Amino acid sequence: MELNEIMRTNGTCRFYKPDPVSDEILAKVLDAARWGPSGGNRQPLRFIAVRDQKKKTALKNLYLPIWNSYLEGVNAGKNRVGGRAKIIDDADYFANHLDEVPIQLVVCARLDDVHPTDVELDRLSIVGGASIYPAVQNVLLAARECGLGTALTTLLCVVEPQVKALLGIPEDVSTAAMVTIGWPVNAFPKKLTRRPLAEFAFTDHYNEGAIES
Ligand SMILES: Cc1cc2nc3c(=O)[nH]c(=O)nc-3n(C[C@H](O)[C@H](O)[C@H](O)COP(=O)(O)O)c2cc1C
Repeated sequence: MELNEIMRTNGTCRFYKPDPVSDEILAKVLDAARWGPSGGNRQPLRFIAVRDQKKKTALKNLYLPIWNSYLEGVNAGKNRVGGRAKIIDDADYFANHLDEVPIQLVVCARLDDVHPTDVELDRLSIVGGASIYPAVQNVLLAARECGLGTALTTLLCVVEPQVKALLGIPEDVSTAAMVTIGWPVNAFPKKLTRRPLAEFAFTDHYNEGAIES
């Protein structure tokens, strides 16, 4: 598959077949993470592929209350969602069937190897993620190339201590995401709903010289 097509059609998958994903395919998909960049090439990323049914159910039981309270916020107009209401219905189904997904990939990072350059600024630090999420995106793209669906989620980070206890994650390692991986029930989308380039790409000055695609 051509890279552009992989990127354009790699929507969040929330409906999975129960069919297993082989160790061989999983290894191929995760191997793509190795080629992601990281600050100083410190490579802080660690993965735990959760296949054990009891652990998958435990993670679902941790996820669901956070999802339900997020959903309450959406229904009350407090949490904003871009795009269609269908996202919410699909995400609700996903939350309630999270234990049926073949693999829950818990993404972790060794904090000593993350290099955030913006911690002294008087705002939310965002740079540390740059050593983690590009490699995770490689995994999403490699999975798509193999015909596997994925969903990148972060709600479980709210209950990081419980996730760490469940999976034996050491103190100096934090959780960064949980990616579900499996064979999709539905066909991949033909086109994702995204802003036009000109709305977020500028030349020489913020909000000026929009770059058109
Ligand atoms: C940082 C981040 C956190 C996310 N967390 C969740 C989540 O906890 N649960 C979920 O169902 N989807 C989650 N998503 C998926 C988004 O809802 C999805 O990327 C967005 O709706 C666009 O969907 P599309 O790629 O299918 O168009 C998350 C995505 C990102 C980038």
